[in-house]
Amino acid sequence: MEILASAPGKTILFGEHAVVYGEPAIAGAVNKRATIKLREAPRDISIFKSDDLGFEAELDTVAKRYTLKKGKPGIIKYILEILSKFHDHSPIEIDLSLNIPIGSGLGSSAAVTVSTLAALHKYHGKKFDRIFIAKKAHEIENTVQRMASPLDTRVSTFGGLIYLSRKKKITKFNTNFKSSFVIGYTSKRGNTGRMVKSVKSLKNRNPTIIEPILKTIGKITDDAKLAITNKQEYRLGELMNVNQGLLDSLGVNTNELSRMVYLARKSGASGSKITGAGGGGSIIACCPKNQDKVFKALTYYDNAIKVNFSNEGVFVKEIKEGLNDNFEDWWKYIN
Ligand code: PMV
Repeated sequence: MEILASAPGKTILFGEHAVVYGEPAIAGAVNKRATIKLREAPRDISIFKSDDLGFEAELDTVAKRYTLKKGKPGIIKYILEILSKFHDHSPIEIDLSLNIPIGSGLGSSAAVTVSTLAALHKYHGKKFDRIFIAKKAHEIENTVQRMASPLDTRVSTFGGLIYLSRKKKITKFNTNFKSSFVIGYTSKRGNTGRMVKSVKSLKNRNPTIIEPILKTIGKITDDAKLAITNKQEYRLGELMNVNQGLLDSLGVNTNELSRMVYLARKSGASGSKITGAGGGGSIIACCPKNQDKVFKALTYYDNAIKVNFSNEGVFVKEIKEGLNDNFEDWWKYIN
């Protein structure tokens, strides 16, 4: 039996850092995904490989160890953790295709974790249960990373745009928001733990200054929810720009991120800001027009991808014999 599962990456549109102090946040699944193919292994050893990322490893799922045959997959810790918890150790082969940049705050590890869990559950004949998958994927991320918010795994499992309220309630909203975005990312990875800590110490030193800033980010997030609901892309851009100023004041900006933020605006984005923890990682630009122009400008110095929000969370299918084995063809078949 061969299983195909696919899950999206995510981006935070509003509320990063403020959300740590109880303010709301908006995040969404993007149309960039991790896709897993899982089958019985041809030999008596489990394999994890990816042609996209250029690696191949043999897995010892009992001892949670691996031997590299080619490349270096950072993501392998998640796979070993999943297999040691949810697999019977029979030899399987996992093929990963990933078009989400790794380590850029775009939820690549969550997408890999969610799709692998979904594929494995189908392989073992279990019922497809999104709530269970989201819960277990968060546990896996917590074990591997020691600290993980449930946002990434949740968005990857369910898809769509979500609003995380002050009471920590997650709701999906306006599923028809079709605007175009560009995400720019540098080769410097962000370190979420370090950035959260540095905002905390800034806040402890200057509580009367920083607390109102965090509250204002919360207000921006609420206005942004309205702007999205009313499909006001220029209003949304304006709010992104104000939010960016406040993120800068929290000390999470860098030269590279700042350069991309201004370049995107100059190239015709309606607004742009850091997405995620900052200190490296990514920016997001809202591009109701000029998406190509913004993309071109950002890729001149850095890397960029064009994205749209996507309603499609994780899905899983059994690959039937006779159908083309190619990921692209599969994607067309599924859609
Ligand atoms: O860069 P990411 O995707 O890890 O996002 C971090 C978002 C923070 O608000 C800074 C931290 C958090 O856990 O919410």
